Amino acid sequence: MWGWESQLLETGFLGIFLCPLWTLSRLPTGTPPSQIVLWGFRWLIFRIMLGAGLIKIRGDRCWRDLTCMDFHYETQPVPNPAAYFLHQSPWWVHRFETLSNHFLELVVPFFIFLGRRMCILHGALQILFQVVLIISGNLSFLNWLTMVPSVACFDDATLGFLFPSGPGGLKDRVLKLQEEAARGARPPPRYGCMVRRAVHMALGILVAWLSVPVVINLLSPTQIMNTSFNPLRIVNTYGAFGSITRERTEVILQGTASPNASTPDAVWEDYEFKCKPGDPGRRPCLISPYHHRLDWLMWFAAFQTYEHNEWIIHLAGRLLANDAMAVSLLALNPFEDRAPPRWVRGEHYRYKFSRPGGQHAAAGKWWVRKRIGPYFPPLSLRDLEDYFRSREWPYPELE
Ligand SMILES: *[C@@H]1O[C@H](CO)[C@@H](O)[C@H](O)[C@H]1NC(C)=O
Repeated sequence: MWGWESQLLETGFLGIFLCPLWTLSRLPTGTPPSQIVLWGFRWLIFRIMLGAGLIKIRGDRCWRDLTCMDFHYETQPVPNPAAYFLHQSPWWVHRFETLSNHFLELVVPFFIFLGRRMCILHGALQILFQVVLIISGNLSFLNWLTMVPSVACFDDATLGFLFPSGPGGLKDRVLKLQEEAARGARPPPRYGCMVRRAVHMALGILVAWLSVPVVINLLSPTQIMNTSFNPLRIVNTYGAFGSITRERTEVILQGTASPNASTPDAVWEDYEFKCKPGDPGRRPCLISPYHHRLDWLMWFAAFQTYEHNEWIIHLAGRLLANDAMAVSLLALNPFEDRAPPRWVRGEHYRYKFSRPGGQHAAAGKWWVRKRIGPYFPPLSLRDLEDYFRSREWPYPELE
């Protein structure tokens, strides 16, 4: 399971306790959210940020010599157009970016514990940080999700501007309720309130107890990234980009209609994915918060081998049959409305951003690519029969 799925689960789990649930009708209007739940969110964002910061300085030398951002924009899983331009910044900008990242992940999280004003400052900085990350890359909904627990630092006075004012408006009603509460005009606590309090106390104890291994992991020099220590994944440990790849490689899937894959005159045509780099002339995509899972997996496949990623052979088999479902995951199938390819192969390429003003950019190319070698050899549907059978995969049917 990806780190962000655990993060979604944990955020959602805490969110449940913001709802009054079955005590809805029994709670007096204006009952504020429980402080325990709000602290649960603050504790969550603290762990996310500090975990991410610590794994970096422990994980990769480039986070310590401040050179990581020289590589990140180009080598991140799915770059966007802004990443192309950010990558071209001078070296001292990249140093500053890396240093700012450390400040936001290693120092700012502690603001949560320094009182109301510092907590608000923390929330504002974290949200700004996530916005910058959304602008600079396609990291699915992760950055949007990370904004959610930061909101727990803002109180009514900070968030008031979001709501309409005026007599009878929500803001007006809340002010009245707060005045009543200040005058001590609250009715005695009802049964529902007491149940709610007990549930929240239990939640607080549970989170504190499940946090023990998480804190031990954070303090440990052999910190692990993205793990759960309990089967329900309620309190997890996070961290992203602990190491940064220095070079971008891509697997390019190609097919040919030629009956003989080894003749030099076989014409190989590229399949194009929805978002990941392929055709160097294609502008990087912008999809956050959306996510193309296959494109993301192709990023991992590119710095491993096909033996680690047997699914890519499965995909090749489907492409050999022009399988409608597999083809729907791609942006371009060169064999659309034609007979399926006789052979499919995977080629391994090195990719670099072109330089604005350079000859490649002038030719409309965002990327410059160079072939490294084969990733997997040309395969025909017949070649794959045993491979599919031994893995109990359904053998692709030719129409
Ligand atoms: C395919 O082409 C290669 C290279 O031209 C040749 O050596 C080989 O015999 C051909 N195979 C078949 C089955 O025709």
